[in-house]
Amino acid sequence: MSSARIPLVAGNWKMNFDHLEATYFVQKLAWLLRDAHFDYKQVEVALMPTFTSIRSVQVLVEADKLRINYGAQSVSVTNQGAFTGDVSADMLAHLGCTYVIVGHSERRKYHPEDDANIVDQVRAVLTAGMQPILCVGESMEERRKGIQLDFAVGQVHDVTRDLSDEEAEKLIIAYEPVWAIGTGLVATPDTAQEAANAVRSDLRQTFGAKVADKVRILYGGSVSSKNAVELIGQPDVDGFLIGGASLKVDELAKICRLTLKTVTSRR
Ligand code: 13P
Repeated sequence: MSSARIPLVAGNWKMNFDHLEATYFVQKLAWLLRDAHFDYKQVEVALMPTFTSIRSVQVLVEADKLRINYGAQSVSVTNQGAFTGDVSADMLAHLGCTYVIVGHSERRKYHPEDDANIVDQVRAVLTAGMQPILCVGESMEERRKGIQLDFAVGQVHDVTRDLSDEEAEKLIIAYEPVWAIGTGLVATPDTAQEAANAVRSDLRQTFGAKVADKVRILYGGSVSSKNAVELIGQPDVDGFLIGGASLKVDELAKICRLTLKTVTSRR
């Protein structure tokens, strides 16, 4: 984490919680953080519900003037028309979404989302005025071959090479090694830092220091309250994209509090 960037603690709920459960969760998280006098100016908190829960989260956030941001987990590359089952970026923007996760490894695996499609999703999100959270990261096979950094940086590069500086600085990148997702095998702080630093160096080469220093790079993969402090202590790790632990409200609130405590103690 660097003092130049506001850390982001983001929960990726994946296919969990219906709209009632989502509403209850957001309310409880807001209460827990309010009781802890949480300073949202120093650490941003965001949740990514399923499409079916976004409207309920929006209504609650607006009615109670909550400081929690939210977004979606994927998006269509087209804006409207005969695309059964798809949801457009404009529709998400109209629901007050700040973020859209793009290129999560589970989407790359279970859906026909190749590099070209991911570039188009990033563009759609940016055009609609939201920020993409672009997920990259190697599998265990690539790590065993020793090509993990080239792989993750390559995934970023494939997307960023066609972006302008103004577009690139709105990107958030989540380094999520596939072997760490849902396995309990969290990357060591050094591993997370090495990858985040490699991604930032590539951004620096492509866009210069001003853009590279603005882009937030998150770590994702078995994040919990047990490992969050060490991870956020790394200079290029600017927060988390959290799966399993973001489904337990006490645990997520704890990660938020620990992140804030670490950030404020180092500023
Ligand atoms: P886990 O935190 O469950 O490992 O999931 C990480 C993830 O995929 C976030 O997008």
